[in-house]
Amino acid sequence: MTGVGIVGLGVISRQYLDTLKGVSSVRIAAVADLDTARADAVAETIPGARVLTTDQLVSDPEVDAVLNLTIPAAHAEVALAAIAQGKDVFGEKPLAATLPDAARVMDAAAAAGVRIGAAPDTVLGTGVQTARAAIDEGLIGRPVSASAMWISAGHESWHPQPDFYYREGGGPLLDMGPYYVTSLVQLLGPVASVSGAASRSRDTRVIGSGPRAGESIAVDVDTHLTGILHHASGALSTVTMSFDGVRSTAAPIEVHGVDGSLLVPDPNMFTGDVQLHPRGGEWQTLQPSAGYADAGRGIGLIDFAAGHARASGAMAHHVLEIMTALAASAASGAREPLHTTVERPSLVPLTPADTWRSL
Ligand SMILES: NC(=O)c1ccc[n+]([C@@H]2O[C@H](COP(=O)([O-])OP(=O)(O)OC[C@H]3O[C@@H](n4cnc5c(N)ncnc54)[C@H](O)[C@@H]3O)[C@@H](O)[C@H]2O)c1
Repeated sequence: MTGVGIVGLGVISRQYLDTLKGVSSVRIAAVADLDTARADAVAETIPGARVLTTDQLVSDPEVDAVLNLTIPAAHAEVALAAIAQGKDVFGEKPLAATLPDAARVMDAAAAAGVRIGAAPDTVLGTGVQTARAAIDEGLIGRPVSASAMWISAGHESWHPQPDFYYREGGGPLLDMGPYYVTSLVQLLGPVASVSGAASRSRDTRVIGSGPRAGESIAVDVDTHLTGILHHASGALSTVTMSFDGVRSTAAPIEVHGVDGSLLVPDPNMFTGDVQLHPRGGEWQTLQPSAGYADAGRGIGLIDFAAGHARASGAMAHHVLEIMTALAASAASGAREPLHTTVERPSLVPLTPADTWRSL
């Protein structure tokens, strides 16, 4: 059983706690948050969990792995503190706020001989994994291209404090890109270079809800990013992530091969129908054939505790480099080569919830 210490008990921690409840491979030994009242409230709901400071938690003998659910700006600092104490780390996206910080985390982990895992783990659900199995089985023949599309009017319509989405480190690519880009690497393998373009529809945004409704906030980042991922296999993915539209009926992800086309469900979710259109046939829905069934956020940590680490730090590092290189290419106008790569993790066999809860 893996003793887990959670650092950061904000909005997303509730989904992790729901998934990890009653899972036999994981025991939550301790929790920490800068806001100790928040930590106290969470600890009360978990039998045996102690409230510690972050420094105490990362050196606690009952903690084998640190679950880092802090804000992006704190990801590297918390991870490095845990690594220095010889702990494994599983963290929320992105791996770090900047690519140099992500490299520092990966280098420190390699030197210390500890393992790094990272969100998104939605890609280990039956949606993306069933699509991956279809490609691996040759149902679309040789994959040639993919498209990934996420378009919205911007999070300020519903988020009461949306400032960070429009500051450095925000924008639609870094916010939503991890789900789509990680899926594309799962489906088509690592990326060798990228070409990007970007635009910004306006310099201010208006908050749509909460006590600041009606207030204008400044936009410091590009809000429409589009680009091409040149996969090492030769396949080409077209990616669009935007706060500059309203709605879209485009498929979240489509993959096209010489013998068929595949519709992949929303990669921000764990499930959803995968549809196949074979050459000469018709659209058909595939039965789930791979992935953790009925999973939630935290399944990546369970997979990590079981020794697989399919939602790996190496994947998160590669995905962060793809996203930052897209933005760099948009700025320079040049195609940007990548320096990291990753092997596709093994396919997740179709695993019912009863099974993964007792792994
Ligand atoms: N909210 C979502 O819907 C959502 C969805 C998917 C992923 N995520 C990711 O989850 C992470 C957390 O997001 P959130 O929405 O839960 O944020 P949040 O602001 O609600 O919670 C973050 C918590 O971390 C604590 N914290 C910050 N720095 C810390 C430090 N150095 N030491 C200890 N505690 C610290 C804060 O006090 C806060 O309680 C982010 O990386 C985000 O990208 C969030």
